[in-house]
Amino acid sequence: MSLATTIIVLFLQISLCFLFTTTASPPHGFTMDLIHRRSNASSRVSNTQSGSSPYANTVFDNSVYLMKLQVGTPPFEIQAIIDTGSEITWTQCLPCVHCYEQNAPIFDPSKSSTFKEKRCDGHSCPYEVDYFDHTYTMGTLATETITLHSTSGEPFVMPETIIGCGHNNSWFKPSFSGMVGLNWGPSSLITQMGGEYPGLMSYCFSGQGTSKINFGANAIVAGDGVVSTTMFMTTAKPGFYYLNLDAVSVGNTRIETMGTTFHALEGNIVIDSGTTLTYFPVSYCNLVRQAVEHVVTAVRAADPTGNDMLCYNSDTIDIFPVITMHFSGGVDLVLDKYNMYMESNNGGVFCLAIICNSPTQEAIFGNRAQNNFLVGYDSSSLLVSFSPTNCSALWN
Ligand SMILES: *[C@@H]1O[C@H](CO)[C@@H](O)[C@H](O)[C@H]1NC(C)=O
Ligand SMILES: *[C@@H]1O[C@H](CO)[C@@H](O)[C@H](O)[C@H]1NC(C)=O
Ligand SMILES: *[C@@H]1O[C@H](CO)[C@@H](O)[C@H](O)[C@H]1NC(C)=O
Repeated sequence: MSLATTIIVLFLQISLCFLFTTTASPPHGFTMDLIHRRSNASSRVSNTQSGSSPYANTVFDNSVYLMKLQVGTPPFEIQAIIDTGSEITWTQCLPCVHCYEQNAPIFDPSKSSTFKEKRCDGHSCPYEVDYFDHTYTMGTLATETITLHSTSGEPFVMPETIIGCGHNNSWFKPSFSGMVGLNWGPSSLITQMGGEYPGLMSYCFSGQGTSKINFGANAIVAGDGVVSTTMFMTTAKPGFYYLNLDAVSVGNTRIETMGTTFHALEGNIVIDSGTTLTYFPVSYCNLVRQAVEHVVTAVRAADPTGNDMLCYNSDTIDIFPVITMHFSGGVDLVLDKYNMYMESNNGGVFCLAIICNSPTQEAIFGNRAQNNFLVGYDSSSLLVSFSPTNCSALWN
């Protein structure tokens, strides 16, 4: 993986859901309607295979992980970014008002017998999602059949799943067909799986190759070496999975969040699969950077990506100290150097993979920092669990 491409994809990220913030939005109906759908989720489960766990195959693409799923009838395969930081699952959809160049064919709803445009007070329901980096998708909401795999060997069929049919989408990479929203909002894919799958999912990212994302019983992360920290789901910031970061250690120097504006008791950092790097608010971020600077004796270099990361001229990652993230409940994740430092495209420069954010933006625990942990989300128990794992070996 290379630094420049990673940064290009940084924007793919999170997920501030600005649904219906525009004046074109219908006055009401959407949120209400989704809540209604959720309350009906149990009826969906009775239509699917009881006891089996849904899963999907995933593939690493430079800096994000794509999930393969099937849309419509007959099933049409798409590969879309796994994003635990956003809600709406969308794909580029014909007819395009403005679609980005996509390698795979674009989904054509007119060819699917199960596609149904959603109605809001007698007209179609527009949606818009604006992501962290100013990328966006706009289109109309629809209900459609989504099909995943399941451990029973039978397909896991989700009829009448709410998706976004994206007609005007900003630039994303041609290998992406859209986004899979997996936050805890009412219309995310995991919420729409229904009552038997109460927000259980797990993934194990390795920064290469293929892997799987599991849902339901098979997504429970337990056993020796597993550590769990409390997940905070607040209505003030709906959808995000927050964790509490108590401190970061740089080598043996422990930098507490306590006493800084970053400190919180009910979540201060969003865990996100769709963001590559890790983001801290600038004041705390600077403390961490200073601790790294204190250890590293190599010559400073400019950030080749222009993101103002802390970079050094070096041919090796060995110059850097080990970073440990201390989450609440004594969850100390000792991170591999690969998780926290990255080499430039052309080599010769290594940078700390932590970006300093404005204090008004979310702090984010990104996917690179989560490498080689089996990460399990459990929204019923309000826990996120981590198991140090060789993720490449797990999926072989
Ligand atoms: C479930 O959905 C049906 C229509 O499909 C609706 O009539 C019913 O009121 C819903 N039940 C709940 C509890 O929302
Ligand atoms: C697509 O949406 C963007 C952002 O709102 C807008 O500026 C642009 O005009 C739209 N493109 C078309 C072709 O409607
Ligand atoms: C992880 O597993 C892969 C594939 O089995 C193997 O090649 C690699 O050496 C392992 N890494 C470590 C650190 O054990």
